[in-house]
Amino acid sequence: MTTKYPLEAFKEIETPFYYYNVELLKATTSKVLEEAAKYPNFHVHYAIKANFNPRLLEIIKKEGLGADCVSGGEVRAALEAGIEPAKIVFAGVGKTDKEISFALDAGIFCFNIESEAEVEAIERLAAERGTVTRVAIRVNPNVGAHTHSNITTGRAENKFGINYEQLDEIIDLIESMEHIELIGLHFHIGSQILVMDDFIALCSRINELQELLKENRNMVLPHINVGGGLGIRYDAPDKYPIPDFELYFATYANSLNLYPGQQLHFELGRSIVAQCGTLITRATYIKHGTCKKFIIVDAGMNDLIRPALYDAYHRIENLTSNKEDDVYDIVGPVCESSDVFCKDRKIPITERGDILAIRSAGAYGEAMAFGYNCREIPKAVLSTDIKQ
Ligand code: LLP
Repeated sequence: MTTKYPLEAFKEIETPFYYYNVELLKATTSKVLEEAAKYPNFHVHYAIKANFNPRLLEIIKKEGLGADCVSGGEVRAALEAGIEPAKIVFAGVGKTDKEISFALDAGIFCFNIESEAEVEAIERLAAERGTVTRVAIRVNPNVGAHTHSNITTGRAENKFGINYEQLDEIIDLIESMEHIELIGLHFHIGSQILVMDDFIALCSRINELQELLKENRNMVLPHINVGGGLGIRYDAPDKYPIPDFELYFATYANSLNLYPGQQLHFELGRSIVAQCGTLITRATYIKHGTCKKFIIVDAGMNDLIRPALYDAYHRIENLTSNKEDDVYDIVGPVCESSDVFCKDRKIPITERGDILAIRSAGAYGEAMAFGYNCREIPKAVLSTDIKQ
């Protein structure tokens, strides 16, 4: 399903803006659910951090996904989208009392806890309410991932999760609490992972851990949550608009040894929303330097920070030029040298006013936009807003 852009409509819209292909979003969510449904114990939560645009959340909710949240604000966004509390999980190393209280009052499914101090805070707040709440321990599996170092999370030196050596202690602590029930283990090794071996490595660590818990404590917890992380093809969005969910789920089904009745949860963000989103921008100026040609566009690093922050590659297309290629750096207007979308990129000869599409920007694009330089947060236009 190649993204066809409604160019005539774009010409009337103030840039920059995020454009979302609703048809592709729906096709992606139904595919993920269809593939997961092959395994009756698999449950998919959408990681709201990837994109919390309420109109997209509404579509995702309608398709039937649960939610993975990392702040009270995200729990609120999930609830406002109508996602049932019983399908909401809440992770994060720094949950405040206010956020925990909000999630407790909403009656979410599970807190993924990341420290002893957090266990104590949840116990105290649940006791105040006279309720018992469910938690899963976020375990740091000490597994690396073939991805950018800023988005690996599963190494012992990362701030996330509980290391193996400290697990017994925290289980003892939870078991001594009256208002917390331990229902599962949670893992997440990183993001934008395309090498299935990384997920297989995670599965072996989980298998080892499950065996240890069974042997040492006769403990089998009903829920295992393996986080998210499935990557997308930034290099070829039209060829691979929908990630290979079939292979992804099969990898877990084949490599993870679950005990009878155990439920397996996934928290997928990028793979669900990345390809349906495009940042549409106009060339404000073409500047010929002494050794470079620059296309200065009206979108900046504040609208899409991934290239500046992670050196991330996004395909960029000129939607209004079909001239021969030239080589440019495509840069934004923000007063930072790192406000660069790409360097030495071949793209058709571009003129002032041309409309450019920065592809695969649906995940961690709008969600990470900020107002530096007093710039406006870009608006979102859904394909369904445009009369075709
Ligand atoms: N679960 C947990 C605990 C996470 O920390 C994350 C992402 C996810 C699930 C969803 O992962 P996904 O399926 O989207 O890979 N801003 C970065 C990515 C940061 C990911 C943070 N955690 C980027 O633009 O590449």
